[in-house]
Amino acid sequence: MRKVTLEQVFTHPVTQKYLKRSGIAHAIAVAEYAYLFSERFDVNPDHATKAALLHDIGHYTWYRDGEWDYELYKENDIHAIKGASRAHKLLIRIGEERQAAKEIAVAILLHTDSYLPKGELKLKPLQQVVSLADEADEENGGNHHYKQIEEYVALERIKALDKQIDSALTKNARFSENV
Ligand SMILES: [Fe+2]
Ligand SMILES: [Fe+2]
Repeated sequence: MRKVTLEQVFTHPVTQKYLKRSGIAHAIAVAEYAYLFSERFDVNPDHATKAALLHDIGHYTWYRDGEWDYELYKENDIHAIKGASRAHKLLIRIGEERQAAKEIAVAILLHTDSYLPKGELKLKPLQQVVSLADEADEENGGNHHYKQIEEYVALERIKALDKQIDSALTKNARFSENV
């Protein structure tokens, strides 16, 4: 049995606060892609969907004169570092296994290579899944951050994912042992 469900992570006030900033619709779409890719890459779907849901919670609001300043953002952004740290703190606080919290945090840290040396990183399958899932939902000019979703639809999609994750974990005993 999992200690923490995706619904618990999603409904936590900390998650809600930061997801409203970076886009709830994007976070959910990435979590759904991560579930699909987790089967293909044979990684723990629980870890993949949690990392995907939380991957952008490190975003800061880069406003200049009331408008989002994309240049300022590109120059100064460290959202993956901040997101990894926030996600880790949150997961530990709500009772996640320490190993799982670490794997999820590192996958968030490496979901973008915008400030990392190009081509020098060899991503682990979980990290690849999160990064590919993010790319799959990307739109031009960062528009994926502005997609809208009704609150009840968001929660229904999270609950549906939880069901899929539970049944995948039951089928694959290796993942139930955690990590
Ligand atoms: Fe991101
Ligand atoms: Fe993203």
